[in-house]
Amino acid sequence: MIKSSRRPILMIPGPTEVPAEVLASVSMPVYPHYGREWAEIYEETTMLATQVFNTSGEVIIFPGPGSAALEMGISNLVAPGEKIIVISNGFFGERLVEIARHLGCKVVLLKADYGKVVDVRQLEEVLEMHKDAKGLAVVHNETSTGVINPIEEYGRVAKENNLFYIVDAISSFGAVELQVDDWGIDYCVGYAGKALASVPGIAPVAIGLEVFKFIENRVWDPSSWFLDLKVWRTYIEEWRPIGHPYPSTVPTHSIVGLREALKIALNEGLEKRYERHEKIALGFRKAVRAMGLEVVALEEYASPTVTAIRSSEEFCGKIIREMLERFNIMVSSGIGELKGKAFRVGHMGLTASHHYIVYTISSLVQVLNSLGLEIDESKPLKEFYSSTKNI
Ligand SMILES: Cc1ncc(COP(=O)(O)O)c(C=O)c1O
Repeated sequence: MIKSSRRPILMIPGPTEVPAEVLASVSMPVYPHYGREWAEIYEETTMLATQVFNTSGEVIIFPGPGSAALEMGISNLVAPGEKIIVISNGFFGERLVEIARHLGCKVVLLKADYGKVVDVRQLEEVLEMHKDAKGLAVVHNETSTGVINPIEEYGRVAKENNLFYIVDAISSFGAVELQVDDWGIDYCVGYAGKALASVPGIAPVAIGLEVFKFIENRVWDPSSWFLDLKVWRTYIEEWRPIGHPYPSTVPTHSIVGLREALKIALNEGLEKRYERHEKIALGFRKAVRAMGLEVVALEEYASPTVTAIRSSEEFCGKIIREMLERFNIMVSSGIGELKGKAFRVGHMGLTASHHYIVYTISSLVQVLNSLGLEIDESKPLKEFYSSTKNI
């Protein structure tokens, strides 16, 4: 077990630091997932999540990893042999491709270089050639590169072309605006243990009413029983009154933590929370550049929750190790095409604050200076404060 005194500060893009109120809420005996009291907790949790998604559709709390929740979406909406357009500009976009291929879907891949986004006109052109496509899948916030994708624009095209629109909002949920209904999203996966700052292990999922209409008349079944939304719909209808709208045992502790984290986010105010993430991220990128380092994302697409920073393989390893050993700060390595070419810093939920970022900047400067750079710490800090004065 990691001793709490040596537990690293999590400046990674999830799991992330969790507020004391959320930790306190999960320090309780096990709840049975039956009965009126539990039903009220579950209903309140989904109602709060609905506000973050901005949807009038159904919200379920998926008991497992975000990847499985994404698999649920694709496997219910695009049959084996049917076409799905996948937009990818990073490791998690590639994961959507892998999921769709495993399910036997024909993937039409639209790719952008790491750090950039696919232009909406490219999507329109591809759809001219693939009018038989059934779905469109994309990552909102590409955690591998620190890029935010224009999901609102893609959503307009998805609706014009009658595509089911599946969005991975795993590392943006609770930190970046999401308008599930207005942006035409049919199936949207959030996550508890990233920007929302709850304990990991469950994924709130918004499911549009069109999806339930579609599966009602669907003549094929997904090969997974557990991921079949028809199975879930039956339990939602029949077992909801007893607080158990699940085909399996409910992870009650995680849901109680999620409820607390949702309350904290909504009490802060979503607009304010989005602005806090934007400003902290902007300030951090300015500080990074003032250290002479390069941010992977082009500025206009830069993520409010994670920054990927280019570096050589030798330096990346040293930076990650020294940050941990000397300052007890955990930052992440590059993944996908950025393996050995970048390291990543998460600034989400609690860590999107002066408290965490100032210490991270100052530690990073000291690590870089010990590697031979000559950085005056006051420069990056000044840049950071210039963007974050009012938060
Ligand atoms: C954007 C994105 N999608 C998918 C995943 C995978 O989520 P999980 O590990 O819960 O399956 C992650 C995890 O970091 C992510 O950031």
